Amino acid sequence: MNTEYVVIDNDYIDKEAIDRAGKIIKEGGLVAFPTETVYGLGGDALNPSASAKIYAAKGRPSDNPLIVHIEDISALEKITKEIPEAAYKLAEKYWPGPLTMIFNKSDAVPYETTGGLDTVAVRMPSNKTALAFIKAAGGYIAAPSANISGRPSPTKGSHVLEDMNGRIEMILDGGECDIGLESTIVDITEGMPMILRPGYISIEMVREVLGKTEYDPAIISDVSSNRAPKAPGMKYKHYAPKGDLTIVSGDKEKVVEYIKNRISEEKTGVKIGILASSETIRWYNADKVIDIGSLSDEDEVARHLYGALRDFDEAGIDIIYSEEFDIGRIGQAIMNRLIKAAGHKIIEV
Ligand code: TXA
Ligand code: MG
Repeated sequence: MNTEYVVIDNDYIDKEAIDRAGKIIKEGGLVAFPTETVYGLGGDALNPSASAKIYAAKGRPSDNPLIVHIEDISALEKITKEIPEAAYKLAEKYWPGPLTMIFNKSDAVPYETTGGLDTVAVRMPSNKTALAFIKAAGGYIAAPSANISGRPSPTKGSHVLEDMNGRIEMILDGGECDIGLESTIVDITEGMPMILRPGYISIEMVREVLGKTEYDPAIISDVSSNRAPKAPGMKYKHYAPKGDLTIVSGDKEKVVEYIKNRISEEKTGVKIGILASSETIRWYNADKVIDIGSLSDEDEVARHLYGALRDFDEAGIDIIYSEEFDIGRIGQAIMNRLIKAAGHKIIEV
C-alpha cells in the first residue's frame, strides 16, 4: 500500500487534506494523526473491520482494547450505556485534553473495538488537527498509539513513518507532540474512581474534581505480583528500545559513578548508550549519550522520552543505562513508562 504523508500546521488546518483523511476513514481505511499526547493510528470506531485493520497494522493482540476519540461531548450519548455525573465533572475540567475515561459501552460500539469488553475507553484530544480530523471522519475514531506493538509510542511524524509506512493509507504530520506520554486513563464505571494508567493528568488533579481516587493496584505493584491490570494494555512489554535497558536509581553522584564504571568494564564492540539529564550529561562518555532534559523541567523530560528510546535504536545501541527521572507532578507517569521499557530492570546504588 502507498502511504500518503502530509505535513499539517496545527494552527492553520489544511481543510482539503483533512477532508481527504475523513473520507479514507469513512471508506474503512486508516489514518495516523497527531494528538497532544502521542500520535494515534485512527480508524472508524463503529466499523468492526476498521478495528481489525488497526490490530493488523500494529501487530497488536486483539484483546487489547482501543480508545475511541471524539470531538464533541454529545458523542458520548451514542457510544455509552450511561454517563455518570463524574464524567461530566472530569470532562468540564480536562476535556479536550490528555484524559481517557472508561464507560459501559452501548451496542453501537463493536466488540472488535473494545477487545471483547463491555466497556469503552473515550477521550477528547485537544490537538486542533486531531479535532478537525475526528469531525471530518464522522465523530468516532478508534486509535491506539501509532507504533508497531512493543515499540516506543511515536511523538513525531517521522516516528510514525518509520513504523507505519506501507501499512496505512495516510499520515498527518503535525510536528512534535506537546506532552509525549499517553493519556491518563480513569475508570469511573465502578464505585471508587481508579487510575488505570498514569499520565499528564495526575491522580491529585483527578482527586481535585472527584474527591477520592485510587491507582489500580496492579500498576504500582512489582512484576512478581500476578494481579492483572484493568487496562489490558498495561500487562504487555511495552515502549521498549531494541537495546538492553537498565535504570540506575539512587543518589545522583553514586548513579553517575556506577554508570561510568559499567561503561569502562564493558567489552569492546558492545555499543553503549546513556540516558542522562542536562545536569549530569557532561560526566559521561559513551557511544550515544542523550540529554533528555533538565531535572527542573518534568514536561521536557516527558516530551523527549520516547524519541530518545528510538534514537538509541537508530544508533544500533546494544546496552543502555538510564538515570531515574522521578520528578515533579508527572514523574510517576515518566517512571511507569521507563520501567516498562526496561522490563523492570532497576539497579539501586
Ligand atoms: O494518549 C493516548 O491515550 C493515545 C492517543 C493516540 O490518544 N492512545 C493510546 O492508545 O495510548 P493505546 O491503544 O496505545 O493504549 C490504550 C490503553 C491500553 O492500555 C488499553 O488496554 C486501555 O487503554 N484500554 C482501552 N480500552 C479499555 C477499556 N475498555 N478498559 C480498560 N482499559 C482500556
Ligand atoms: Mg500504545
